[in-house]
Amino acid sequence: MGHVAILGVFVADTAFRAGRMPRMGETILGDSFALGPGGKGSNQAVAAGRAGAEVHFVGRIGRDTFGDMAMAVWRDAGVTPAVARVEEATGAAFIFLDAASGDNAIIVSPGAAGGISVADVEARADVIGGAAVFVTQLEQPMAPAMRALEIAREGGAATILNPAPAADLSDEMLALCDYVTPNETEAEALTGIAVTDLDGAWAAGNALLARGVAKAAILTLGAQGVLYHSADRSEHVAAFDAGPVVETTGAGDAFNGGFACALAEGRDPVEAARFACALAAISVTRPGAAASMPTRAEVDALLAGA
Ligand code: RIB
Ligand code: NA
Repeated sequence: MGHVAILGVFVADTAFRAGRMPRMGETILGDSFALGPGGKGSNQAVAAGRAGAEVHFVGRIGRDTFGDMAMAVWRDAGVTPAVARVEEATGAAFIFLDAASGDNAIIVSPGAAGGISVADVEARADVIGGAAVFVTQLEQPMAPAMRALEIAREGGAATILNPAPAADLSDEMLALCDYVTPNETEAEALTGIAVTDLDGAWAAGNALLARGVAKAAILTLGAQGVLYHSADRSEHVAAFDAGPVVETTGAGDAFNGGFACALAEGRDPVEAARFACALAAISVTRPGAAASMPTRAEVDALLAGA
């Protein structure tokens, strides 16, 4: 079984739970506050590591308390850091959590990770090119993401792009991706097609294949599960119910980390998507982003009971 390499951002999440968002110029009292590890790439690495993959994380953090938080969460999840520690401060995310629904709104400020460069990626070409599976997202600059996808492709890795946060991308970049994993809004940003149901997801999946995605578009649809869509196979994977939803922050990251782990184990990609849905289902029953990623035993138990 080969390793998973992930390029991306670590930030510290500052999560404020409140009844509503404050209006401009207004101060309101919140219900609770939590500080914990976040950043999409790092969350995905933690998810894959806890699920049992050998994971190497490529990124950039500061020599500060938040950087130490990153090192600790990676150590606990068995993730090997291939990171530069720099003078610039580690970034942070502001997360508003709606007390009633558990939904969130996020501002992410990547800090040190915003400086991830093509040179950083080339310095880790061994880790990226030698992977069985490579994953990245769009929180760090586009140029290093693109370069890393090229290196991974040349090395023979399966490449996964989680196109989050939403952005438009070149056909050239999409052609470097074996799999893209947009949610509804990200799929719309890439295709112009509104994704509100499975029909919309199917149409957006077709558009992504037409734009050059090599193997499959995997559209994540929240409570509606996911649509796995390739040229010769379109399958709906239903969401699992692992209990009441507490916080959805990082659910997409749980999916991506789980999918990468299962692919690296050589599973069929639709089976890998099902495994990934199990991680996501467990993650939403717990507070926090990286902190909510399940262990392999928990994932296997949910799959066995389904
Ligand atoms: O995907 C969830 C993550 O997005 C949070 O952990 C936050 O840091 C933002 O990057
Ligand atoms: Na969670």
